[in-house]
Amino acid sequence: MNIAIDGPAGAGKSTIAKLVAKELGFIYVDTGAMYRSIALYLINNQIDISDVNLVSECISPISIEIKYENDIQQIYLNGDNVTSRLREESVGNMASKSSALPCVRAKLLDLQRQLANDYNVVMDGRDIGTNILPNAELKIYLTASSKVRANRRYDELVLKGDNPDIDKIEQDIITRDKQDMEREIAPLKQAEDAVFIDSSDMSIDEVVKVIINYARRR
Ligand code: DC
Repeated sequence: MNIAIDGPAGAGKSTIAKLVAKELGFIYVDTGAMYRSIALYLINNQIDISDVNLVSECISPISIEIKYENDIQQIYLNGDNVTSRLREESVGNMASKSSALPCVRAKLLDLQRQLANDYNVVMDGRDIGTNILPNAELKIYLTASSKVRANRRYDELVLKGDNPDIDKIEQDIITRDKQDMEREIAPLKQAEDAVFIDSSDMSIDEVVKVIINYARRR
């Protein structure tokens, strides 16, 4: 059985997908991290992403491997574990831009489908229900208002000891939504057969319970 969870940045997809996977004994697949690993490669090698042919040439030989260590997804880029660098803001912003390129999406498509073929997965991303796993047994579109998403991110950064600017965080979220929803290839949108969940006024536990209930009914 496969569960697809799509939605905009900061909607809580990864937190919720991890808990759902744990409860059901499934594997959690974070596809955003895969796009982030390619973005990290592009940043590290100072590759100009406006040159599509160059990007295609440069990423074609790179190896991206997914391993699970204590049930946590680790990403290896050309043999190096890069997981700890992937959540940086600059990497996320580059991932939002570079994921619009067809060569980047093509590189990750087989890897994602293979994982879903080999295991019961909860896979989160932007195009899982619409494009990667159109036959997933359960599809969820998880969202929250940009204000709520910005507040959640703000709290996370404050906990880490940062001093963030809430307006800038919300602006970044709005820009990211626009890029992810308006790109030509595999844009973020709700699959027709997805369950819509707005988590703005819901706790994490409430959202997890709703999803588990749907999963148990399939
Ligand atoms: O979920 P995230 O913030 O880690 O994703 C980073 C970027 O990667 C996001 O802005 C868009 C892109 N992405 C995508 O295009 N398709 C996916 N399935 C997952 C992420």
